[in-house]
Amino acid sequence: MKILVGYGTGEGHTRRIARHVADLTVAEGHSVELLNLADAEGLDLARFDRALLAASVHVNHYQRALGTFAAREASRLNAMPTLFLSVSLAAAGHDDEDWKGLERILADLEAATGWTPGRVSQIAGAFRPERYDVFRRFVMRRIIAVKDPKADLDAGKDYTDWPALDALVHDWLQS
Ligand SMILES: Cc1cc2nc3c(=O)[nH]c(=O)nc-3n(C[C@H](O)[C@H](O)[C@H](O)COP(=O)(O)O)c2cc1C
Repeated sequence: MKILVGYGTGEGHTRRIARHVADLTVAEGHSVELLNLADAEGLDLARFDRALLAASVHVNHYQRALGTFAAREASRLNAMPTLFLSVSLAAAGHDDEDWKGLERILADLEAATGWTPGRVSQIAGAFRPERYDVFRRFVMRRIIAVKDPKADLDAGKDYTDWPALDALVHDWLQS
């Protein structure tokens, strides 16, 4: 199959996830185009059998490039198998309110674009203090200090469950 792996990212973690997933997809015998959705203008989705899209949550929204792309291609996306990876720090925890928030953010995306992903997975992201400006570092350190009191606030931390991600993508490719 020919598969589009498109992503939006703020500090690069979702790009890392998208690259990883693209490599896995190639290793399973498929051909892949890896694309930053900010550069999706003019892309012909008809060339692809499936689409795997990924974006991260920043202040309760996904990257604008995802919304723009999904709105423009909604009818084609709805007619093909799609998997959406929603990357956030909320998904690293077990707080009910956080998880309800993730559902709302997804519902907002669907309402705004008309795209309903065939399958969705909430993926725990990463804390990357070295990539934040002073204000972001301050805000994120406070959030992490509450959510993960054992974390070293200067070192950063990757919360993504990579083996679970591999299993998910493998399963989706087989379906
Ligand atoms: C400025 C900023 C705002 C964020 N807002 C949220 C948020 O509202 N909810 C959440 O769960 N995670 C939030 N995060 C965490 C990111 O979703 C997480 O760090 C993710 O791994 C970022 O992926 P990226 O590097 O691809 O953008 C935020 C991170 C930053 C830097």
